[in-house]
Amino acid sequence: MRNMGDSGTSGKERDSNVSSVSSAYGPANGAPSIELHNSDCAGGMETLVDGTIDVVVTSPPYNIGTAYSSYDDTVSRSDYITWLESVALKIRNKLTESGSFFLNIGSSPANPWGPFEAVLMLRKHFHLQNVIHWIKSIYIANESYGKKTEINVGHYKPINSNRFLNDAHEYIFHLTKSNSVPLDRLAIGVPYKDSSNIARWDIGSGNLRCRGNTWYVPYRTIQSRERERPHPASFPPEIPEMCIRLHGIGRTKRVMDPFMGIGNTALACRKLGVACIGFEIDPQYYSASLKLLSDGETATSGTACGE
Ligand SMILES: C[S@@+](CC[C@H](N)C(=O)[O-])C[C@H]1O[C@@H](n2cnc3c(N)ncnc32)[C@H](O)[C@@H]1O
Repeated sequence: MRNMGDSGTSGKERDSNVSSVSSAYGPANGAPSIELHNSDCAGGMETLVDGTIDVVVTSPPYNIGTAYSSYDDTVSRSDYITWLESVALKIRNKLTESGSFFLNIGSSPANPWGPFEAVLMLRKHFHLQNVIHWIKSIYIANESYGKKTEINVGHYKPINSNRFLNDAHEYIFHLTKSNSVPLDRLAIGVPYKDSSNIARWDIGSGNLRCRGNTWYVPYRTIQSRERERPHPASFPPEIPEMCIRLHGIGRTKRVMDPFMGIGNTALACRKLGVACIGFEIDPQYYSASLKLLSDGETATSGTACGE
């Protein structure tokens, strides 16, 4: 098993000594390039020029014992945090001064501290501009003007326990260098419930308001995990799509995902027409990402923005 690549030195563009297989989509037909590398992201990021990535959207291993095909997700918490810090410092070097780093981390009922330990470590290097909650499943009972409605949506893994709740959310930490990166909030806005409120509160346009920091994004229902989602811990492509839209498509020339998995960030980038570079250490997931990209968006994407 190969884990936690050599952190190396940060720096300027140079010849890569990364043993990577790479694949690029797009430039041939004039579309922004989608560049995927089967390599350790630590070495891979070394080959990039500093300050050239506008948005990083990524989900690293969570250190909760997920059964990846090759990565060992059971290393000690202190080794994990040390490694994550070395990766985060490389991300910081590659990010533009006004860039956004969206870090998705989940936990498990038996390992609840991980996201908090990670974000506290990151406090040394980034501002925590927003905390977003990715909601995978929710039940809402609502009564409005005497009318009762019930919503019961999404997917979750049931936990058989008398002390733990079913785990139905993950964090997306929005980290920046300045704490004042402007956002295109209405790019992922939601309709006002009562349009008479617009005059009172509106600082935007149309009948959209800011979505807020609770994003309901369910997994798409699939028939075959092996064929349609061959990875134990992927996010839906709507997650990177919403992050990139929120940062602002007009301000995003290049996106990076250092932990690409089966390529959902690349799929989102291709849909949005922005360039993307990604790294994935596992050859099996890397191959799956190439296949999902060549099969087309219909293979993995659901409705845009989790509506
Ligand atoms: C939580 S998953 C990311 C899933 C991805 N967001 C998706 O939707 O498919 C983390 C991934 O990081 C990969 N990984 C672990 N260590 C790595 C490293 N040093 N460099 C690149 N990828 C690595 C694992 O193989 C795993 O696929």
